Amino acid sequence: MNKLETANSYIEKNKVPKEQRPDFHVTAPVGWINDPNGFSEYRNQYHLFYQHHPYSDAWGPMHWGHCTSGDFIKWETLPDALAPDESYDENGCFSGSALETDEEHALVYTGVTEREENGKKCSYQNQCLAFGDGKTYRKFAGNPVIDGNQLPEGFSREDFRDPKIWFDNGSYFLVAGNRKSDGLGQVVLFRSTDLKDWQYVTVLAENDGTYGTMWECPDFFELGNQHVLIVSPQDMRAVENKFYNGNHALYFLGQFNKTSCQFDYNEGVMLDYGPDYYAPQTLLTNDGRRILIAWMQSWDINIKPAEQRWNGMMTIPRELSLVDGHLYQQPVRELENHRVNPVIYKNAEISGEVSLPGIKGRVLDLSAEVLSGDFEKLTIHIAHNAEYTSCFTYNQEEQSIEFNRTYSGMRRDVISQRKMKLDNPESTLKLRLILDKYSAELFVNDGYQVFSATFYTPLEADEIVFRCDGKANLNIEKYDIQV
Ligand code: FRU
Repeated sequence: MNKLETANSYIEKNKVPKEQRPDFHVTAPVGWINDPNGFSEYRNQYHLFYQHHPYSDAWGPMHWGHCTSGDFIKWETLPDALAPDESYDENGCFSGSALETDEEHALVYTGVTEREENGKKCSYQNQCLAFGDGKTYRKFAGNPVIDGNQLPEGFSREDFRDPKIWFDNGSYFLVAGNRKSDGLGQVVLFRSTDLKDWQYVTVLAENDGTYGTMWECPDFFELGNQHVLIVSPQDMRAVENKFYNGNHALYFLGQFNKTSCQFDYNEGVMLDYGPDYYAPQTLLTNDGRRILIAWMQSWDINIKPAEQRWNGMMTIPRELSLVDGHLYQQPVRELENHRVNPVIYKNAEISGEVSLPGIKGRVLDLSAEVLSGDFEKLTIHIAHNAEYTSCFTYNQEEQSIEFNRTYSGMRRDVISQRKMKLDNPESTLKLRLILDKYSAELFVNDGYQVFSATFYTPLEADEIVFRCDGKANLNIEKYDIQV
């Protein structure tokens, strides 16, 4: 058996039953996952690949896992599509993207090779191609199609990865993450007419030191009358109410001149304020929607129980829109087709600790509109029982929301509390909370800000409890999600 067949037969033998994993968030059948890759539409199916190490719950030689969906909510797992089995990718098939061409489904990814040079281990990252029919893929014989040596003098060959491709006006374009000579990140742009022969064009954007160090996983697209650049910087430093320490994902809005290929951009803004979010990637649907998905985990946080044989999941795919110069995110509208068992409360009064009949569960879509109230703090406890709880607390005075998973059974000294300042306070605070067993995604004020977090507690902890130190009036709407 070759490496890919070996991986797929291991996966088949060791896969974790579906019931033990989230219902509508993508996970690997077994093993470790990180970044979403190759998020694309091909022959009317959505395809999502991901960085996959099937053999353990930790990162290792990277394969590309694969799944498909007709509606972004119900996913079918397919065999892994790529394994690190060629001389140009033997140390890993790193992140990349995909595109539907007239003939086939094209994948572009980073092939990693390592070798000893003058007693030092050197790593090289080059861009490679694979073609397939939506199920099986064959690597292009002419790989790598972009060699690091095509980069200008002084640009890193060691950190040159995560190609994102698109097609525009007769040409293919590709952005990739790279490191300049001062060690900071930048995004480089390439162009091709046939996917195989690529020319370096320019530096699209660069880190002046404000945004961490290396920039990983760039994405670049048009939205409304602007262009959006997404990057995942490593080693960010906290700035009050703006950034947290560590690895994050940011977006920059700006104007792109398609003739000169210059991108004029504003300040970077966080895409998600939660502790579990990294390496987002988008696709454009045939009906014109820009959809964003990300790894709902981050490099420094690993809190899943040791005995759990799958590690890591994706966020719910989110629809992007641009309103008054701000990027809004909403769960894909297809989620609404999976809503069952509505429970609705109008103007419910919350004072002290309140459980509302019918409002419980770990796989659901819950909206709460905070109408008015004389209080300082309003808390929603989720995944709650006598032993476990996680919660979001709205502080009206401070206009902040704080997440707390201290009592979610983690035996690790990692981020368990995090506060997000509300950037656009409105008279009525609108919250939408998506739960899927081990995760919570909070969309604030129609997706103006989003917060993603995970907690791995037993599913019996399924109560939802409201707590208010004064009196609050809420409209509440809850649906279970059935897939
Ligand atoms: C981001 C990243 C990418 C790389 C991949 C390796 O999380 O570091 O830059 O391609 O993960 O698995």
